[in-house]
Amino acid sequence: MAKGFLHLHVTVVVIFLLLFAYKVALLILSKNEQLSFIRNKTKVVEMILGTLILVTGTYLFITDPLKEMWLWVKLVSIIGLIPLGIIGLKKENKALALISLIGFLYFFVVSKTNSLTFKRDKIEIVEAPAENTGEKQSTTEDIMATNEETQLNKGKAIYTQVCAACHGPEGNLQLAGAANLQTSKLTLDEKISIVTNGKNAMMAYKDQLSEQEIVAVVTYTETLKK
Ligand code: HEC
Repeated sequence: MAKGFLHLHVTVVVIFLLLFAYKVALLILSKNEQLSFIRNKTKVVEMILGTLILVTGTYLFITDPLKEMWLWVKLVSIIGLIPLGIIGLKKENKALALISLIGFLYFFVVSKTNSLTFKRDKIEIVEAPAENTGEKQSTTEDIMATNEETQLNKGKAIYTQVCAACHGPEGNLQLAGAANLQTSKLTLDEKISIVTNGKNAMMAYKDQLSEQEIVAVVTYTETLKK
C-alpha cells in the first residue's frame, strides 16, 4: 500500500517538475506570452497535481514518519521552495524561478540516493536464514546462543559480499595488498577502527555499514584466525 503511494507520489512529482521546468525555460527565454498562455491552460492540472503531491506526501509522512534527518531537511526546504517558484513565475523573476527549479531538482535527485550528498546507498546485506533446529528456545542461554549465531551469520553475510573480494573467503587472499586476516595481530577495536575509517587501499565503511554491522563483520573475521 505504502509502496503504491510512494510510486504515485514520485510519478506526480515528476510530471509536476517537468511542467515547472518547461515554464521556467519559457521565462528564461523571455517567451512571456507563451508562458502566460501555458500558465492559464495548466492552472487546473497544476492544482490537481499539487493536491495529489500533498495528499500522497502526507500519507507517506503519517505511515512512515521521517526517521532520517535529511528527510526533514528536504521537507522544510521544499516547503520553502514552493512559494519561491510561484512568486518567480508570477513576477517573471528569472533568478527566483531558476533557484527554485534547481532546488526541486536537487532534492529530487537526492531523494533517489537517500542522503543529502550524492553518496551511495547503504549496502543491502542479503542474509542467509539462520538454521532452524526445530527445537523451541527455552532458556536464556539458548536465546543468547542463538543471538550470537545470528550475529555471526550476519557478519559472515557481510564479509562474503563486501570483504571477500580482497581478503578472500578464508581471509588470506591478500589481493591488492589486503592484510592477511588469519594472522592479523590487531585487537577487535583496532580492526573496527580500520573498517570504520579505512586504511590506505582499504576504503572506509562507515557510510555503508552501521556500527553494529561493522562489529558483526569484524567479529566474524576473528573466526578466520588459524
Ligand atoms: C579493496 C580491497 C579491500 C576490501 C573490499 C576490504 N579490505 Fe580490508 N584491507 C585491505 C587492505 C589493502 C588492507 C591493508 C591496509 C594497510 O595496512 O595498508 C586491509 C586491512 C584490513 C584490516 C587490518 C588487518 C591488519 O592486521 O592490518 C582489517 C581488519 C580488514 N582489512 C577488514 C576488512 C573487512 C571487515 C572488510 C569488509 C567490510 C574489508 N576489510 C574489505 C583491502 C580491502
